[in-house]
Amino acid sequence: MLRDEVLALLKAQGGAPLSGEAMSQKLGVSRAAVWKAMEGLRQEGYVISSAPRRGYALEASPDLLSPGELMNPDRRVGSRLVCLDTVDSTNNEVKRRAVDDVPDGLAVVSARQTGGRGRRGRSFVSPPGGLYLSALLRPQCPLEQVSALTAWSAVAVCDAVEALCGVRPGIKWPNDVIWEGRKLSGILTELELEGETAALRYVVVGIGVNLTQTEADFGPQVAPVAISMAQALGRAPRRAEMAAALLDALDRLDRDFPGQWDRWLERYRADCITLGRQIKVVRGSEERIGRAVEVDDQFALVVEWADGTREALSSGEVSVRGLLGYV
Ligand code: BTN
Repeated sequence: MLRDEVLALLKAQGGAPLSGEAMSQKLGVSRAAVWKAMEGLRQEGYVISSAPRRGYALEASPDLLSPGELMNPDRRVGSRLVCLDTVDSTNNEVKRRAVDDVPDGLAVVSARQTGGRGRRGRSFVSPPGGLYLSALLRPQCPLEQVSALTAWSAVAVCDAVEALCGVRPGIKWPNDVIWEGRKLSGILTELELEGETAALRYVVVGIGVNLTQTEADFGPQVAPVAISMAQALGRAPRRAEMAAALLDALDRLDRDFPGQWDRWLERYRADCITLGRQIKVVRGSEERIGRAVEVDDQFALVVEWADGTREALSSGEVSVRGLLGYV
C-alpha cells in the first residue's frame, strides 16, 4: 500500500525532511499520489511538517500498528507483515497462513486477542494495551535443538525491552519475562512436524508484551502476577516501537540460531532469575521443593533436591514456582 511505503520512507529519515519529488521517484508514483498519501497519514494522527524546497518530515506518530511502521528491508523476520486490531490468537493466524510457499519471516501483530493461548494449555489474557506478535521461522537444525528456541526467544524479548527502555528484565525459567517479580511478557513457541517423516515444517514464536494495561485491564486473577511497562516504569513505548524492537531481536535470533548456541546460553544464564532460588516443581499433581542450581547446555533447569541428588528438568514436563508466589 502506498500509505505504508510513504510512512516507511518518512520513518527511515529519522525526522529529517524528504522532498515529495524524491519520494515520488523512489516509489515510482506521481507527486499527487504522494501528497494524497501524506494527507491520509495526517488524518490518522501523524504530525508531518512540510516546508517549501525541503520537503516532508515526520514529527510525531500516533500509537498505531501498521506495516509502514514496521517495514525494514534489512530484516528477514517481518519481511511479510500482517497488522490487525483483533484476532483470536496471532499464533493461530500465522499457522493459518503458514502454507508451504510462505517464506519464513512472516509476522502477525495485533492490538488485542480474543483467544490468546499460553503455555501448558492455559489461556493468555490479551486486552488492548498489550502487544501480541507471532513470527514464522524455519530453523535449519536437528529437531532436538528446536525446543531451545523458547529460551532464546526470552533473551530476545529482554533485548527488545532493554533497547527501548534502557532496563533489562529477568527470565523466570523457561521463558517468562519478569519485572519486579511479575510477568511483563509471555512466550508460546509451537512447532509443526511433517506427518509422515516427523521433519520440522515450521516454528511459530508468539510473544505477548504488556505495555499500558492497568490492574482493571488484567482482571483480578491475572493482575497480581502481571505487570505492564506503564506500571513498571511510568511510561510505555508505542506498540509499533515495541513490535519493531521485537522484530529486530527475533531477526538476530533467527540469524544466530543454532550457530551461536554458546553465546545465547551464556546470555540466558545471565538473565535467568530462577537460578539459585528455592523453587516448587510441579509435575502433574505432584509438587516437590528443590533449589535451582544450573541451566545445562540444553537449557534444561538442573534442580538439587533435599537429599542432594540432582535432576535436569525440561520445560515440556514441569512448571516451576517460587516458594512464596509466582517467581
Ligand atoms: C504464557 O505465558 O503461558 C505464554 C503466553 C504467550 C502469549 C503469546 S501472545 C502472542 C501469541 N499468541 C498467542 O495466542 N499466544 C502467544
